[in-house]
Amino acid sequence: MVGYSFRICKSCFGKRGGHLKFIHYLFIIVFCISLLALLFIDVIELWVTSLGMSRAIGPHGVVLPHSIPPTRSEEYLLMPSIHVCQRAEPYLIILVATAPHNRKARQAIRDTWGGEVQVRGHRVMTLFIVGQPYDPVIGKELIEESKERGDLIQGRFIDSYGNLTLKTLSMLGWARRFCPQAHYLAKVDDDVLFNPSALLQYLNLSFKTAENELTELYLGRVHMQVAPDRNPASKHFMSETAYAGMVFPDYCSGTAYVLSRPALLKLSLAAVSIRLPRPLPPEDVFVGICAHTAGITPTHSPLFSGGPAVPYSRCCYQTMVSVHHTKPGEMVHYWKEVHSTAPCSWLGMILFGETMHCNIILLL
Ligand SMILES: *[C@@H]1O[C@H](CO)[C@@H](O)[C@H](O)[C@H]1NC(C)=O
Ligand SMILES: *[C@@H]1O[C@H](CO)[C@@H](O)[C@H](O)[C@H]1NC(C)=O
Repeated sequence: MVGYSFRICKSCFGKRGGHLKFIHYLFIIVFCISLLALLFIDVIELWVTSLGMSRAIGPHGVVLPHSIPPTRSEEYLLMPSIHVCQRAEPYLIILVATAPHNRKARQAIRDTWGGEVQVRGHRVMTLFIVGQPYDPVIGKELIEESKERGDLIQGRFIDSYGNLTLKTLSMLGWARRFCPQAHYLAKVDDDVLFNPSALLQYLNLSFKTAENELTELYLGRVHMQVAPDRNPASKHFMSETAYAGMVFPDYCSGTAYVLSRPALLKLSLAAVSIRLPRPLPPEDVFVGICAHTAGITPTHSPLFSGGPAVPYSRCCYQTMVSVHHTKPGEMVHYWKEVHSTAPCSWLGMILFGETMHCNIILLL
């Protein structure tokens, strides 16, 4: 068949097949252009987004994106000013998934790592994301807390364990829409002792790139080859119609993970295109599926504790980016101790064995 058409073309286009060569080159050029276009989808999207924003510069040079209602978006019942990221220009935005009644946990975070605004020369901003409580009393308290602190984002869904994936969808949408300035987004649970300084140091050392040239990064403790739970009685049950594969795509533990801006843009676009099965998949599995769809591979770091708790040791906690299962009281106590004392030297850590527990974790 190929030989036949080739012969026809040869007879059409002359002995030496000059046109055939031309078509061949044309094909290669078109292929290269489409490949380049695919590679630069992020850049094009960012450019389009920035065009939309720069068109609406107000009289005082304040950016007023006209596509967004002046007070708040209809998707979000509570949120800080829509200009919060334009004003603060955070390098890292940390969005903490929290339940409406966990006020103590939020306060502990504000009093510790969430209160950091300048870390290693970068601006950092921490906000909380909640859903709607069943209890209207708690609903009113949330409104008060939001007025007082201005750091709550409330999505339009019932806040429950089964709805955590909706919280993440809400978070991704909010960050993409209202905080495209941030270089990195960290999603952190409210029972995690997070360490923005350790994260920024790690990012600086491991992913050194020129400014404005962020790589696609989906970073955390990677769970590999996890099989869906096919037991209908289980909390994490997933039917074969909901997810047919033998194993989930690799994903970062939901306790704490980080997305670079290009990864966030791609991943949040994938997230809205995916049909959600019921019951919803676990939040972190869902993010893994979105990342896979968007062609983003997770990057593993042992500095994220993932699910298990890490026994307290001052030097270990200085190094770790995230430590799970930290109660509000412990958080305040550990934070003080870790930050009020001198940094641990490698020699000190080896001599005094302070990182014994940490070493076990770090090796994993
Ligand atoms: C999740 O939120 C939706 C929208 O508010 C609600 O209809 C649904 O009942 C919630 N599901 C669970 C499991 O709480
Ligand atoms: C990394 O750290 C160096 C030294 O502190 C600093 O000059 C540089 O700007 C940092 N780079 C990034 C991307 O944070």
